[in-house]
Amino acid sequence: MNALVVANWKMNETATEARVLSRAVADALRTRWTRDVTVAIAPPFTALAAVRESIADTAIALAAQNLYFEEKGAYTGEVSAAMLADLGVVYVIVGHSERRRYFHETDADVRRKAAAALAHGLRPIVAVGETSDERDAGTTDGRVVAQTRAALEGLQRAQLAQIAIAYEPVWAIGTGRSCEPAEAQRVMSLVRASVPGLSDVPVLYGGSVTPANFASYMALPDCNGGLVGGTSLDAQAFAQLVSIAHEARA
Ligand code: PGA
Repeated sequence: MNALVVANWKMNETATEARVLSRAVADALRTRWTRDVTVAIAPPFTALAAVRESIADTAIALAAQNLYFEEKGAYTGEVSAAMLADLGVVYVIVGHSERRRYFHETDADVRRKAAAALAHGLRPIVAVGETSDERDAGTTDGRVVAQTRAALEGLQRAQLAQIAIAYEPVWAIGTGRSCEPAEAQRVMSLVRASVPGLSDVPVLYGGSVTPANFASYMALPDCNGGLVGGTSLDAQAFAQLVSIAHEARA
């Protein structure tokens, strides 16, 4: 399986800025091995078209950070799977902890979003992870398994083969406090085992990934890549992550 390294730009970069940053990422990657690493960039919706244009001559895939599960209609402000597919989006992050926390997305919403994405040929990257309260209460395993099962409920084997899962401990996101690799491996193997049919699905680690710690995650048996926030806004540092993923595969 290819490693998968995904840049989650979150609510950063105007379309104008995104054009520059995606070009810089493409240039930085030109000298790296990308044959065994799939690279995707998830800009804000408003920058999808600009990024699509600037990565058109590269192997970088376009990703979105969210979608709404309804097909179309009176849902002011929302963006459908068909709209993303039409823009050339390949991957879409669903269930990011920031969406769960600030926009009150439930496990049921995440399931519907994953299903809507698959119905339109998009590949969902399902994000799961425990909060620091859940970790302190000793409920990490139950929470992460429940999130994974809820998100994937009702999917056929062939659909499961299209997804990726990102284990992102919420307390590690944007905090500089990355998860101990051994603990990440323990939870990622639990996630993979939580639903039959996930043995060949990429499981990514996310949460304060940097060039200094990424090799220790890529060395884990159940880690197939990274979902990267802060570091992905620096083209050179992000390209280093791609190199590290390549080296881990070599
Ligand atoms: P971070 O974000 O790399 O800035 O911790 C990761 C994510 O939220 O996907």
